[in-house]
Amino acid sequence: MERELGWRWRAAAAWWFAVAVGCSLVGSGSAGLLESNPGLAYNFYQKSCPNVDSIVRSVTWAQVAANPALPGRLLRLHFHDCFVQGCDASILLDNAQSEKTAGPNLSVGGYEVIDAIKAQLEQACPGVVSCADIVALAARDAVSYQFKASLWQVETGRRDGPVSLATNTGTLPSPFAGFNVLLQSFANRGLNLTDLVALSGAHTIGKASCSSVTPRLYQGNATSLDPLLDSAYARRLMSSCPNPSPSSSTIDLDATTPLKFDSSYYTNLQNKQGALASDAALTQNAAAAQMVADLTNPIKFYAAFSMSMKKMGRIDVLTGSKGQIRKQCRAVNTS
Ligand code: HEM
Repeated sequence: MERELGWRWRAAAAWWFAVAVGCSLVGSGSAGLLESNPGLAYNFYQKSCPNVDSIVRSVTWAQVAANPALPGRLLRLHFHDCFVQGCDASILLDNAQSEKTAGPNLSVGGYEVIDAIKAQLEQACPGVVSCADIVALAARDAVSYQFKASLWQVETGRRDGPVSLATNTGTLPSPFAGFNVLLQSFANRGLNLTDLVALSGAHTIGKASCSSVTPRLYQGNATSLDPLLDSAYARRLMSSCPNPSPSSSTIDLDATTPLKFDSSYYTNLQNKQGALASDAALTQNAAAAQMVADLTNPIKFYAAFSMSMKKMGRIDVLTGSKGQIRKQCRAVNTS
């Protein structure tokens, strides 16, 4: 109980610190962040659906309690939504050529949680809350289950897009990309070096398929280790991912505390224990490596992650009268 309270206190302190840092940054020279606000607001649904936060939280927390893999799934779902055509819930649409059929999205999950939340919201306030906002709120609440307090604030007011094409998913960064390619991929979405390093910290939770790491371990039939891998860690990866690996085999993205949303991802990177080549790439640029060192401090990580999630949540959003509020998240409204 004492430990639990200790956690809660630390989480609350971290959150307030993050907000304080966020506010002070916004107030001192980051005016661009405010100016670039595309029409989102905190409490957008205050009048139209006042219980939106409690409904999203209660459904998400109940599902996370039953399935600890969901925070990773829902966080990645939000990222993959925003990086392809903006945060418009296009990843949720079901059709033969939709985004979810594309290679990088085949291991994305959490759709059923979004459906469950949408079903409850349609009962409480029909036709009001967008699927794109549900994705953003569910990602936050899934991670916040660990802290019982939100680690970042989510602006709302996004609307849902009508188009979803697998051919658009080329904007998702590859796990085999080097530093400059990753930086460019984030720059293409209006995100900078700080955002790249902070948001990569999402890999403090969740899983990767062996196919995302085996090219760092083997060349054809032979063992061939990426020099950016610590050898003991590489042996661990090889035992989880033999050559060849069953397609269902996975590894933890965070080798030390896989279920905790903490800053150990950055300590792992410093110890050459980043699971993906794209994680290790963050140690290959002097400025990025300095940020990696800074973000080993959990308070700094939570503050930076919070700021960058806000920016990611603004990518190419549809607001006002653009797009629509889907009745059902997997299909565009017909009428
Ligand atoms: C920097 C570029 C990034 C690359 C190249 C990348 C790539 C990947 C890959 C390859 C996986 C494993 C997929 C699989 O093998 O099944 C993964 C998992 C994951 N990614 Fe990323 N990612 C990046 C950035 C991000 C960002 C910005 C976020 C969120 C803010 C994120 C959140 C996650 C999460 C939570 C998982 C675990 C998913 C699960 O457990 O189901 N990633 N990522």
